[in-house]
Amino acid sequence: MALYFISIGLNDSKDISLKGLETVKKCAKVYLEGYTSVLNCPVSDLEKLYGKKVIIADRDLVESKAGETILKDAEEQNTAFLVVGDVFSATTHMDLWLRAKEKGIETIAIHNASVLTAVGITGLELYKFGKVTSIPFHNKDVKSPIEVLKQNQKMGLHTLFLLDLDPKEKKFLAINDAAAYLIKNRVPKDTKAVACCALGSSHPLLKYGALEILQKESFSKFPQSLIIPGKLHFMEEKALELLA
Ligand SMILES: C[S@@+](CC[C@H](N)C(=O)[O-])C[C@H]1O[C@@H](n2cnc3c(N)ncnc32)[C@H](O)[C@@H]1O
Repeated sequence: MALYFISIGLNDSKDISLKGLETVKKCAKVYLEGYTSVLNCPVSDLEKLYGKKVIIADRDLVESKAGETILKDAEEQNTAFLVVGDVFSATTHMDLWLRAKEKGIETIAIHNASVLTAVGITGLELYKFGKVTSIPFHNKDVKSPIEVLKQNQKMGLHTLFLLDLDPKEKKFLAINDAAAYLIKNRVPKDTKAVACCALGSSHPLLKYGALEILQKESFSKFPQSLIIPGKLHFMEEKALELLA
């Protein structure tokens, strides 16, 4: 008996690895973590591919009720906990992993692409990213993303801003809102940034431009992230110019 933490990739049902798919198929219960990110396909596509019912696990179920649900199931039968992107590229899932271990449940991770690696498509070197930060929906008094940006900029590092989302309500913080937040918090409006939408899909939307330009654009593909590049190598500059 084991609890399998299966990363299912970024875009649609077909991004799961072969190993992930084989594992899901042998699990009696299948949970999908449904609050930190979303796929660009309905859950019914996953159910069709797996031949199984998929239970959506909201934050309350994972953080407060896992003892009576996911962990209880995993003590009795093989159980899958599916995560969009990669399982350990969110701050929250180590808690469930550790709780399972404390209960003596075997835990097995299957990895996949994450937004943290997919941003490599911009041409920015992954090794030169600094601390990652998030901009929440309610950001009027939130200053930590600005502090993180300043620290990264001091070291010439790139800053990835993750943008809040609420999959249950189909709500996403958009790039123009994020650009407006940064400008309101005195990041110069001519600061160049990279808009990244629907990474992992065959046609991701990428745009390099000043914050004041991105603020006026409406990007139609989701989920979205924003990057403010640090010190650029000429190869990075060349790649970004293609996105301008
Ligand atoms: C908690 S993080 C994602 C964690 C996920 N486990 C992963 O490995 O990618 C969620 C945020 O990442 C960003 N994100 C996720 N998927 C994305 C995508 N396909 N394209 C652009 N940004 C994405 C969005 O800003 C979203 O709010």
